[in-house]
Amino acid sequence: MIDGFGRRITYVRLSVTDRCDLRCRYCMAEKMTFLPRKDVLSLEEIVELADIFIARGMKRIRLTGGEPLVRKGIDRLVLELGKRVGKGLDELTMTTNGTQLERYAPMLFAAGIRRINASLDSRDPDRFRHITRRGDLAHVLGGIEAAARAGLRIKINMVALRGINEDEIAPMLRWCASQGYDLTLIETMPLGEVEEDRTEHYLPLSEVSNRLEREFRLIPSLARTGGPARYYEVEGLGVRLGLITPLTHNFCEGCNRIRVAATGTVFGCLGHDQKVELRDLLRGGGAEAVDDALDRLLAGKPKSHQFRIEAARPAVERHMNVTGG
Ligand SMILES: C[S@@+](CC[C@H](N)C(=O)[O-])C[C@H]1O[C@@H](n2cnc3c(N)ncnc32)[C@H](O)[C@@H]1O
Ligand code: SF4
Repeated sequence: MIDGFGRRITYVRLSVTDRCDLRCRYCMAEKMTFLPRKDVLSLEEIVELADIFIARGMKRIRLTGGEPLVRKGIDRLVLELGKRVGKGLDELTMTTNGTQLERYAPMLFAAGIRRINASLDSRDPDRFRHITRRGDLAHVLGGIEAAARAGLRIKINMVALRGINEDEIAPMLRWCASQGYDLTLIETMPLGEVEEDRTEHYLPLSEVSNRLEREFRLIPSLARTGGPARYYEVEGLGVRLGLITPLTHNFCEGCNRIRVAATGTVFGCLGHDQKVELRDLLRGGGAEAVDDALDRLLAGKPKSHQFRIEAARPAVERHMNVTGG
């Protein structure tokens, strides 16, 4: 999997559902219309697609959604994909909102998952409910604890929201350090159809890191993942801080990733509409047709994205509606 700019694609984010049990204000509308089931890849089709990716050199798969753990049969899927870890696949990971972790954490570990990203934008119960429109903080914290107990390494994802949780960022960093978790802060992106005006809560991470530097010494880490995060070691805390600033271009030249929506649409870049549709090929055309389509995708994978806050909205929304993130 090498694209037209010589970048080796080794990482895929695979959305297994567009559905979710929360309605985070920056991500979804209150009343969502989800896709008809027939439009979403079956579990078998997801495995088939994962095998095609692995055969082509994909090393890491991250399962996401929507909320991956609300997909019916997710345990079967994870256990099946887990069989590929160490046999072509280096790592299987997941990004989750944590609501189902209490139930599923031991299964994730048993399947070979060793680390997960868990989203947590606030540790205040009322704010958490406000942001997610329905989440129960105690339940989610219980899930994250269960995941840690099961042996999973945890990175907390926190979307930085001006006027909503900006005062919680430094406390969250300290809390993560006390729990042995890492923390990644995310800038809001113009993705998904939401009722809210996201620009109102847009908080540039440059501003956040300037503020954090008054309290902590942030030592830039050499770690690169090929993704949009920059990492820092926080002196004295033993926690790694990631900053995801998707609207900047600083990561595009090393980009090693693609993303697959729950419908089987594969995007070469989050900030472009460039895509291939694999669902019907999986259903009718067979592995060769899928391979040809992936070749087309790689040949056309954009050099860099074209996000500007809210400016890229129509193009990005068209595909985020079916990826859920
Ligand atoms: C779309 S969610 C999917 C996985 C899972 N439901 C979760 O929340 O972790 C993946 C990540 O994207 C973040 N996210 C969603 N919409 C976003 C937006 N508009 N801007 C920035 N981050 C966003 C979420 O906070 C979460 O950490
Ligand atoms: S960010 Fe995750 S948990 Fe929140 S609504 Fe979107 S998919 Fe659901």
